[in-house]
Amino acid sequence: MRLKTKFNQFGGVYIPEMMVKSMQDLETAFITYTKNKKFRNELKSLLKNFAGRPTPLYFAKNMSKELGFKIYLKREDLLHTGAHKINNTLGQGLLAKYMGKKEIIAETGAGQHGVATAAAGALMGLPVKVFMGAKDIERQKLNVFRMKLFGAEVISVESGSKTLKDAVNESMRYFLANVESTYYLLGSVVGPHPYPTLVEYFQKIIGEETKEQIISLENKLPTKIIACVGGGSNAIGIFNTFIGKNIKLIGVEAAGNNIKHGKTLSEGTIGVFHGTKSYVLQTQEGQILEAHSISAGLDYPGVGPKHSYLKNKNLVSYQSANDEQAINALQYLCKKEGILPALESAHALSYVLENQDTFTKEDVVVICLSGRGDKDIGVVMEHV
Ligand SMILES: Cc1ncc(COP(=O)(O)O)c(C=O)c1O
Repeated sequence: MRLKTKFNQFGGVYIPEMMVKSMQDLETAFITYTKNKKFRNELKSLLKNFAGRPTPLYFAKNMSKELGFKIYLKREDLLHTGAHKINNTLGQGLLAKYMGKKEIIAETGAGQHGVATAAAGALMGLPVKVFMGAKDIERQKLNVFRMKLFGAEVISVESGSKTLKDAVNESMRYFLANVESTYYLLGSVVGPHPYPTLVEYFQKIIGEETKEQIISLENKLPTKIIACVGGGSNAIGIFNTFIGKNIKLIGVEAAGNNIKHGKTLSEGTIGVFHGTKSYVLQTQEGQILEAHSISAGLDYPGVGPKHSYLKNKNLVSYQSANDEQAINALQYLCKKEGILPALESAHALSYVLENQDTFTKEDVVVICLSGRGDKDIGVVMEHV
């Protein structure tokens, strides 16, 4: 059996021939082990006992009272290592171990995926190399140090915009040269098939838990679900269970500042980038543009192919929030609820604050709080 490689025209496997076999092997291993009882039980136990699942669905009482409709926060920020990224790195880390790989490599933007990979590598007993843009290393110092504490080697990428897209390029280059022994642990629902499907599988637990929790709390499904979109893994993770169910799903991209942004779905065009066909920020000639966001995790000129499909089918509405709005939303949640969200998650929150008049008192809204903001303190201090 093979998995579907495309979401209508999006997705696919646009990679050098040398990499094709490794992607087929990965797909086969994924199909085999996700049906394997031992693998499934081991992952389930790690998600519970190592990562801290299930995460609470927290009723934001003060915020709800002030805004006049019900707001719940899916608390992925409470997970070990501080974000939803650990759901995926435990899944793929285990896959690497079962496949008998000798080393894990990863790229990272905000550093959350790097930290989560380094932790999974330490746990599995596999050495980890993390590729990270020099600019991101500078703005995410705390996470770089955490990766090193977990024993990972952090490799500074000095090419291009020195951010996530360049880190992905470098990881792919290294992977191609070491394809037999290395497991490339991709951090979002991007890249060539089977990664978008595989990462979605490991992240869909966010939506599955949310559904069970909201039914037990409210006896019905929510009216709106909101998540930030970088590559798109926390958004796909929480949306997955609710697609096509008459619930308004809203993905929030980074509108950046007046000069640059990361609004891939609203302003990009269809192209091939990092092995997949999707919306991309690019020139008319197909050269990739630099994205910008105050949050390193949203600073990516591509997006997962399934999001492109969901956009074209009008199954999800894609909106945006800019740097300033994200900083304001972060401060708001700190003061109102005593919760410090990641700057990425603050984009989702900001959508609600900036568009209050589009909600009614009947609304039951779930916001995916994809991560905690400790990593962003340095950046926030410069802006408040
Ligand atoms: C806390 C947090 N949220 C969101 C993202 C964006 O990634 P994705 O769109 O794959 O969820 C990141 C990326 O590093 C992150 O650290």
